Formats: sequence, C-alpha cells, structure tokens
Amino acid sequence: MVLSSRERRQQSSPALGAAREVLWHDLECGAYRADLALWHELAEQAPGQILDVGAGTGRVALELARDGHHITALDRDGGLLQALRERASGLAVETVQADARAFDLGGRRFALCIAPMQTVQLLGGSDDRMAFLRRARAHLRPGGVLACAIVTTLDPFDCDTGDAGPSAESTRVAGHRYTSRATRVRVSTQSIVIERERRIFGPRAPAGELSLERNVVVLDRLSASELEREGVAAGLSALPSRSVAATEEHVGSAVVMLRA
Ligand SMILES: C[S@@+](CC[C@H](N)C(=O)[O-])C[C@H]1O[C@@H](n2cnc3c(N)ncnc32)[C@H](O)[C@@H]1O
Repeated sequence: MVLSSRERRQQSSPALGAAREVLWHDLECGAYRADLALWHELAEQAPGQILDVGAGTGRVALELARDGHHITALDRDGGLLQALRERASGLAVETVQADARAFDLGGRRFALCIAPMQTVQLLGGSDDRMAFLRRARAHLRPGGVLACAIVTTLDPFDCDTGDAGPSAESTRVAGHRYTSRATRVRVSTQSIVIERERRIFGPRAPAGELSLERNVVVLDRLSASELEREGVAAGLSALPSRSVAATEEHVGSAVVMLRA
C-alpha cells in the first residue's frame, strides 16, 4: 500500500488538541446505549423541539435527530460540538456553545429538555445546579419536561491496591491505539471521583506506549429526592422518576423527571 505524505503524517502523530478530546469523549461515552430507549420514548411524547444539555459529540442528539426530532444540542465544549455538527449533516440539529448554568436562547421554549449521563452532576454543587434548573425551566414551554440522568451509587475500587477494575476501552485511529481504563473510584459524602488512565500506543510493532495521562472526573454526589427538591425550588414540579438499568459494562442511573 502506498501512502500519501498526508497519510504518512497522520499515521505518525497521534491526535492533538480538540481532535484528541473528541476521541477520548467518544471512547469513554460513545458505547453507552442502555439509556437510548428512554430518551426515544420521552422524545416521542414531546410535542415540540428538544434541548439536549451537555450534548457532547451527540451520542443522544444524533440518535433522536435520526428519528426525525428537532434537536438543539448545548455544550460548553466547542470542540465536541464541532464534531457533532460534522456528524449531523442533513439532520435537524442546531448546536449552541454555552454554559448550562447561564444559557439564554432568546425566548425559545422546548417541549423536552434532557441531561443524559450525569451531566447535572458535573455542574459544581447545589448552587450551580439550581442555576441550571432555573435556566432549564425558563426554556421549557408550559407542561414541558426536564429529564436528568444521575448516578446515585457507584462501588469504590482502586487498581493500585489490587482491585481488578473494569477492562479498558480501546479504539484504533490512523494506526494509533487509544485505550482508556478506569483505575479508581472514590466515593465521599460530597462527591464521586473517577480516575482514568488514558494511553496512546504507536503504530509500529512492537507498539510502544507514546503517552499516558491521568484523567479525573468529579461528580457531585446527589440523590433523586435532592434533585427533585431543587427542581421544585426552581419552580418545577416533580413527576415520578424513571430509571436506566445497569448493564455488565455500565452502572444504572435514576432519571429525575420535572415538569414546568
Ligand atoms: C458525560 S458527558 C455526556 C455527553 C452526552 N450527553 C452523552 O450522553 O454521551 C457530559 C457533557 O457535559 C458537558 N458539560 C459539563 N459541564 C457543562 C456545563 N457547565 N455547561 C455545558 N456543558 C457542560 C461536557 O462538555 C460533556 O460534553
């Protein structure tokens, strides 16, 4: 096989900058499918447009748009939204780069606002969550629904002390192999801290490790009843919550449902 000089360059250097962040995001979030049936069900019941908060590269937004729904995908990360736009060609998807705690879409009102995959636990505690809930309420039409997935329990482990932990997720892009493995979960009264090792291996055999970085995600610890109370304080009313069952690879989640 003859490679062009551009292909040779792509094979010899791993992804950089935003492309690398997109790659890690897809690797760590993209394979999760257990929640999609619920988002489809809620979208089918929504008589209007849908706002996906913390949309990332569009795991849920693209799925719903392929089903004919009009989606506004909001995220603060412009690199992830750029990837979403490239994948959304021909679909009814708009992107908005904004902070979930402070967005203003100029009077637009949605029938459904979703926050999949623990996005509400990334906002930085109760005050910031309240700011998001108020913004979400302001963007819902009367009777519109806000649905937020949260993880309430996660078993702690530590690979440094001999726990096996989950197996690594891995992908090969332009000859390089990227792996991400959760190596530690710490649970305290306030937070759930998830540590991952992200490794990149070069294209030539024997494949050498080119880089190792540690990634740390801090989730606010939150119960469904606490989020419901906050929702009510933000002017929403609580509906019966839903759940997404655990799978072999992923923990289950509660989905808190609030109505405007
Ligand atoms: C766990 S990912 C979920 C991505 C996608 N919704 C999915 O389910 O695959 C959380 C997303 O929330 C975004 N995010 C975190 N904090 C945010 C904030 N304050 N405002 C807007 N987006 C935020 C991140 O950039 C990331 O894309």
